Amino acid sequence: MEFQNLLYEKEDGVALITVNRPKALNALNIDTLLEIKMAVEKAAADDEVMVLVVTGAGEKSFVAGADITYMMNINALQGREFGMLGQEVFRIIETLPKPVIAAINGFALGGGLELAMACDFRVCSENSKFGQPEVGLGVTPGFGGTQRLPRLVGSGMAKELLFTGDTIDAFEALRIGLVNHVAAADQLLAYVQNMARKICFRGQIAVRFCKVAVNEGLQTDIDRAMSIEADLFGLCFASEDQKEGMKAFVEKRKANFQGA
Ligand code: CAA
Repeated sequence: MEFQNLLYEKEDGVALITVNRPKALNALNIDTLLEIKMAVEKAAADDEVMVLVVTGAGEKSFVAGADITYMMNINALQGREFGMLGQEVFRIIETLPKPVIAAINGFALGGGLELAMACDFRVCSENSKFGQPEVGLGVTPGFGGTQRLPRLVGSGMAKELLFTGDTIDAFEALRIGLVNHVAAADQLLAYVQNMARKICFRGQIAVRFCKVAVNEGLQTDIDRAMSIEADLFGLCFASEDQKEGMKAFVEKRKANFQGA
């Protein structure tokens, strides 16, 4: 499969998707969104891929937002459709039955921050900058930013960022819980790939069930959420991974999980 606007690589169970329009700081146009969807679906369908990492090409930008040159002349209906396309692609990432990590290597603005927030968690380089600058362009965020940002950092902090359009740096993003870790720029990918590989060695059924339990549990009340956890915990005991994981513990050796 040939991509025009991104790079797709696979190594040691980890698929690396690099948004690759460096001249536009990796801004998202329709073609790029559709290619992200295809790349994510490709990784989802590949049994060798256990974890996805999303990053941006170049040293300056993860993704600097939706493509303003595309949006500047569209009407209300096209705007709604463009927003819904971004929402659809990012929701596929969010609900993908494999972990997705954002490796943020610079600007994560507007649609770029929205892409990062659809990932399961975020690690960034020291030079990264974050923001939802849309109000400065006369629009709201359209790829889920008004919904995921408050869920991640709380409504007061989210509203401040949304209303002011201010940009924050990597350490402020760390402080408010928008990213989990900050790495030196030249260490970022290695850092994230190490995390990804660590996840690859765990029981993949259990990892996927953890993602489902967190995502679905956050959408519902605590009693229903506990029931979701109980169902998934129970289902683990129907897997070979559970038998291998617990046997390996008792035998004082490393588990050799098969994801079955
Ligand atoms: N769309 C299209 N092109 C973009 C872009 C974007 N979001 N962001 C940057 N570019 C282009 C610039 O137009 C420029 O192209 P040219 O060389 O052809 O002029 C190139 O990338 C390099 O950008 P700058 O020269 O501006 O680089 P800089 O270092 O001076 O500034 C920046 C970097 C602060 C990120 C600045 O480019 C910027 O503010 N970009 C726009 C950020 C933004 O507003 N993003 C939100 C978009 S709206 C959105 O995303 C809606 C939504 O929720 C769906």
